[in-house]
Amino acid sequence: MIARVIPSTGESIPVIGLGTSGPFEVGADAAARAPLREVIDAFFEGGGRLIDTSPMYSTAEGVLGELLSQAQQKSCFMATKVWADGAAAGISQMNDSARLLKHRPLDLIQVHNLRDLDAQLRTLHAMKAEGQVRYVGITHYTVSAHAELARVIERGKLDFVQLNYSALTRDAESRLLPLAADRGVAVIVNRAFEDGRVFARLRGVPVPDWAADFEATSWAQVLLKFVIAHPAVTCVIPATGKVKNLRDNLAGGRGRLPDAAALRNIAAAVGA
Ligand SMILES: NC(=O)c1ccc[n+]([C@@H]2O[C@H](COP(=O)([O-])OP(=O)(O)OC[C@H]3O[C@@H](n4cnc5c(N)ncnc54)[C@H](OP(=O)(O)O)[C@@H]3O)[C@@H](O)[C@H]2O)c1
Repeated sequence: MIARVIPSTGESIPVIGLGTSGPFEVGADAAARAPLREVIDAFFEGGGRLIDTSPMYSTAEGVLGELLSQAQQKSCFMATKVWADGAAAGISQMNDSARLLKHRPLDLIQVHNLRDLDAQLRTLHAMKAEGQVRYVGITHYTVSAHAELARVIERGKLDFVQLNYSALTRDAESRLLPLAADRGVAVIVNRAFEDGRVFARLRGVPVPDWAADFEATSWAQVLLKFVIAHPAVTCVIPATGKVKNLRDNLAGGRGRLPDAAALRNIAAAVGA
């Protein structure tokens, strides 16, 4: 698996991570949890490390905490979020997350959708100084928030920004991705598949022959390689609850990446 360096420390992480919104919100239902255990085992066996979750994703944090083995917890780079108003509510939520995820210290806590940004960042920086969290970040998932994400990056002191970027939605290329690279902020990409909608567009369309030039054999691999070909991208976090799709996504983090001509071909093929 290709790895990328987190600029603020030099630590490297595998470029394909795992999102949990949707598929991991299954509560205590044993039948619904069974395929998730397979997904998690295949993720770590295939060289994955970063899992992204949030208290906003209903039961996902508790499900993860109960499904991860001790060995998996050790290699897991656990990224969650804070999504609360006020310092006290934020602190209580982050303590709950660490307890549910059974992971201390949490590797990364991100201010989810910039909610109550200044109060949560103040707490997070204090927690980082005390060793209660290793990295601090911010997230959003819409282009309308890109200007605000850029403003917060410019203020400094962030380790990570999580943003939406895909072969269909390339807005981050103009300002945010170069800015993150320039300021030494690691980038996690969400919505690489437009929440799955891109596959509906591509249904029945064969993977083009030119995808072999960068060793992609499925549309998912083509789309993930489009994202990680950008040098500012540290990790992409496709969400899936299916082991077949998980293995497909991990393959998107291996082998050659598209060059500039191939990136143009991909954007044209998906109709960007
Ligand atoms: N504000 C925020 O901080 C924010 C917002 C959005 C997302 N996120 C994070 O980013 C993660 C990813 O974003 P997302 O969940 O919105 O969408 P996404 O990763 O763009 O798309 C997920 C969809 O793609 C499907 N899929 C995954 N792998 C596939 C494959 N190989 N072939 C075909 N279909 C495949 C999944 O279905 P199956 O389950 O059937 O495979 C699912 O429906 C989230 O889970 C979350 O962790 C954060």
